[in-house]
Amino acid sequence: MNFIEHSKIYHYPVLLKESIENLITDRNGIYVDVTFGGGGHSSAILKKLEKKAILIALDQDKESIKNNLIKDKRFYLLHKNFIHIRSILKKYNIEKVSGILADLGLSSYQIYNYKRGFSHKFNCTLDMRMNQKIPISALQIINQYSKKKLFHIFYKYGEFKNAIQIAEKILKKREKKPIITTWDLMNIFFLKKLSFKKKKKFLSRLFQSIRIEVNNEINNLKNFLLESSKIILPGGRIAIISYHSIEDRITKFFFKKGVFKNQEIPRCYSIPFKMIHKKVIKPTIQEIKINPKSRSARLRIAEKL
Ligand SMILES: C[S@@+](CC[C@H](N)C(=O)[O-])C[C@H]1O[C@@H](n2cnc3c(N)ncnc32)[C@H](O)[C@@H]1O
Repeated sequence: MNFIEHSKIYHYPVLLKESIENLITDRNGIYVDVTFGGGGHSSAILKKLEKKAILIALDQDKESIKNNLIKDKRFYLLHKNFIHIRSILKKYNIEKVSGILADLGLSSYQIYNYKRGFSHKFNCTLDMRMNQKIPISALQIINQYSKKKLFHIFYKYGEFKNAIQIAEKILKKREKKPIITTWDLMNIFFLKKLSFKKKKKFLSRLFQSIRIEVNNEINNLKNFLLESSKIILPGGRIAIISYHSIEDRITKFFFKKGVFKNQEIPRCYSIPFKMIHKKVIKPTIQEIKINPKSRSARLRIAEKL
């Protein structure tokens, strides 16, 4: 199997042309792909770079590192969480880089690996950890979190208006019997009455909200954006592909203001970025036809001033 076939099975890269074309400003620069996945974006970046360039890629999932097929002298792949981007680069004596790409969320390989517990399509133990070493999985969250904490997850990350009812149903069920598997969780909600479309929407949001909590995705994104803003060269670019509105709102606000919402802006402050496109970049109808999973993707690119 060649690389293109492999990477499309592992994960079909999303907004590939749009993200790479806008990311590279110096063909001999240092770049970081902080979400390697199946390596589709990394491979496309390498094709655009010259001999002296370097590409460092990170992924917090060991399976992604094991599945790597890229062999290139300019390429380094590390099993790391992207929140540590600055300290990782420091170890290699790298202070500044020309471009950083983050393609957030999950790879298809993770979603369709029935042992990982990310999808309601397979009945397996609730897990949802991207890094199998982190101590808390979906199993602990669903069976041990208080009503208040569960409410917070469903309200904030799932944007459910009936978050309290969802939390209460889980508590009622687990009083009788622990909720062990993805289908134990799904069956709490008597979804038979719902249309296929509504059921799918409810379950995707439910599972997504738990996954965000398991992997601390919101805090990770904020820390990563802050760290990245410190290491990007003037004229260098940060490209973020996100798959839900919370991530996209955080990215948009940070690129526009250089801070997060409700964060105090210091006096004599100048905004550190310029947005490359006024409007968010979405996949074309053709891309969605070929890869329906790309439909929720949103790309934003900022240039350091
Ligand atoms: C959408 S996939 C990336 C796909 C990749 N661009 C490609 O073309 O194959 C997202 C990947 O990011 C990884 N990831 C998510 N959060 C991470 C984090 N905080 N640190 C490092 N990797 C992370 C996931 O494990 C997953 O493999």
